[in-house]
Amino acid sequence: MKRTLFLLLLLPVLLSAQGGMWLPMHLEKQNEKEMKSLGLKLEADDIYAPNRPSIKDAICQFSGGCTGEMISPEGLLLTNHHCGFGAISEHSTLEHNYVEDGFWAMSRADEIPCPGETAMFISRMEDVTALALLGVTEAMNERDRQSQIDKNLAQIRVNTKKEKWEEILIRPFYNGNQYFLFVTVTYTDVRLVGAPPSSIGKFGADTDNWVWPRHTGDFSLFRVYADKDNRPAPFSADNRPLRPAHFLPISLEGVAEGDFTMVYGFPGRTDEYLSASALRQTAEVTNPVRVDIRDKALKTMDRFMRNDPAIKIQYISRFASIANAWKKWLGEMQGLQTYKAVAKRQEYEAEFVRRINQNPDWKIRYNNLLPRLNQTHKDMEPYAEARDNYLETFLRNVQVMGLASGLTNWVKTYDDGNLPAFSAKIKEVDGQMAGAFREMNPAVDKAVFAVLAERFAKTMRPEWGGAYVKSEAERLGGFDKLADYLYANSALTNPDRWASLAAGDAGALGKALSQDPVLVLWRGVSKPYQEQVVPKLQELQSGLNLLQRQYMSAQMQVFKDKRFFPDANGTLRLTYGKVNGYSPRDAVRYEFRTHLDGVLEKYVPGDYEFDVPKKLIDLWKAKDYGQYAAKDGRMPVAFLGTNHTTGGNSGSPALDARGNLVGLNFDRVWEGTMSDLNYDPAICRNIMVDARYILFIIDKYAGAGYLLNEMKIVKGKRK
Ligand code: ARG
Ligand code: ASP
Repeated sequence: MKRTLFLLLLLPVLLSAQGGMWLPMHLEKQNEKEMKSLGLKLEADDIYAPNRPSIKDAICQFSGGCTGEMISPEGLLLTNHHCGFGAISEHSTLEHNYVEDGFWAMSRADEIPCPGETAMFISRMEDVTALALLGVTEAMNERDRQSQIDKNLAQIRVNTKKEKWEEILIRPFYNGNQYFLFVTVTYTDVRLVGAPPSSIGKFGADTDNWVWPRHTGDFSLFRVYADKDNRPAPFSADNRPLRPAHFLPISLEGVAEGDFTMVYGFPGRTDEYLSASALRQTAEVTNPVRVDIRDKALKTMDRFMRNDPAIKIQYISRFASIANAWKKWLGEMQGLQTYKAVAKRQEYEAEFVRRINQNPDWKIRYNNLLPRLNQTHKDMEPYAEARDNYLETFLRNVQVMGLASGLTNWVKTYDDGNLPAFSAKIKEVDGQMAGAFREMNPAVDKAVFAVLAERFAKTMRPEWGGAYVKSEAERLGGFDKLADYLYANSALTNPDRWASLAAGDAGALGKALSQDPVLVLWRGVSKPYQEQVVPKLQELQSGLNLLQRQYMSAQMQVFKDKRFFPDANGTLRLTYGKVNGYSPRDAVRYEFRTHLDGVLEKYVPGDYEFDVPKKLIDLWKAKDYGQYAAKDGRMPVAFLGTNHTTGGNSGSPALDARGNLVGLNFDRVWEGTMSDLNYDPAICRNIMVDARYILFIIDKYAGAGYLLNEMKIVKGKRK
């Protein structure tokens, strides 16, 4: 009785947690009321409308993994510095080091074409669940179910009306319980317009990453071009700036604590509806494995990078990307522990069970669901651990093993006696190898290999590959010796050896590769994994998919009083909340905003993470902030909100109650990185660059104020 009462009291908290990444087409039904109560001054269809211009027409997915937005009627695109980093570094040379010094096009002619960068807009979306699940029955096994769905989706694609420059994308939602279709338009002529130096755009680098208080001006500017009819077209000098159906006005008013904000973008992936058992596994088993492996790899790389500036440049981007997920997983597992995510999820499950027990129908259908889910997670545990161990060790962190895995099928054509097929691909592989050699320093990779191979031998079950690696090390006199041997004798670790082999006789190349010590080791490691781990993984995963889909649908039925947003899946979503600081632990309270003064507090002259450009220091000393200063005369840099965001939301606009851009999303706070699995409104915050800081840097710092002429700047229209 006491427990029930406790649960009933807790219920509002369990069920009303704010957060969520909502479907734009359902805002009116699901969110408009709440959004208005939080301060929204627009109607749902100002944000998303299928047949007339709305805010969604200003939002695009930038190059597949980030978000960007239109901030002028002439295709000017705003995104993060770290989202544009690939393009910025690709065009950097020692003479024109845009990474170090920044880049500013002072006219349209100076803009730099960036092949490979894309901007994908959404024309409209549709719920196609009924058609997608046509003929699907509960009795079907997963394979038959999927093939029926695949057939249905193909049919939907054929029947959907679209223009010839449009594309169709269909994605499962709610673990496959629903399907939505998106009609998209992708522009490929994207040009770099501006980027601050890394000492602004990446200020604080890895040390400050995922951490508040934050002082990073994480933004860059691009321009999207289209053909004369405003349609997507490959790069051409004749192309014209895109005229988007909507672009975002930028507000100079700033934000105050409690203000409504919303973030519109393309969140990549979340798992908010897992069982407590799955959360526990992430916190206690899989994240620790991944974190430990990356920790070892990063420490090894760091040693080399500190001693050699050339290695530092070569590895900076790789290091940042390995460190980004490493740090997030660490924060995530700590957050799950600290904020008792497993216990809270168990309380939620207890309420689920209590409710199904009161309904005879549910009781029959769902009684076994959680026990089976828990059992399957338990069965999965050793395999999931092995999977992460294997993938992180060899495929993610040892470069040469990743290479070996990519070459295996090709070398097999030689081993199978198909010399023509083997020869036909030499040139292509040679090109890939050239790229791989540019990104690899064999001494660094060898050191990483030695450390990780030793860890693998100790932690991987003997019969799943652990014994093999151990015996190879013993045979050669230890892990360092094994590493020496491999890197001294392989063609994949030595550009000259590779070049002379690749230029010579195809048969000799095939023979050398099929005996190459790195490829031999890779085969020895991957064989037991493929044979003994993968089949079991696939079987268990397919069981889990089914159970999780049923559990998702059961939760939606049983908790009718709760609104469920679909997990992020790389599609367009809106999240909203309030500008808000937070209290991570007793007696500690973080304010919601940082200032340029804080940049100078962190300033370490000459440091690669915390240096500050002289011009910025001068502007700060003179308090020369122009119209961009806050009302208190200070220069704001970043602020926090309760918007529920994840990877892929980087570059998303933060909008005020009227749809003006007030910030640019780029990160989350350390204590709240668990939000992909367990959004807790008390602690999870997204971090945005203040729009005024962006304009200040463009205008006052870079002297590219001409760009503001094409923007719509809003002043004094608050509330
Ligand atoms: N943590 C942010 C995100 O997940 C920013 C990453 C870029 N910054 C960095 N220092 N690596 O993408
Ligand atoms: N920094 C992330 C991104 O690049 C955003 C996040 O994970 O909060 O998308």
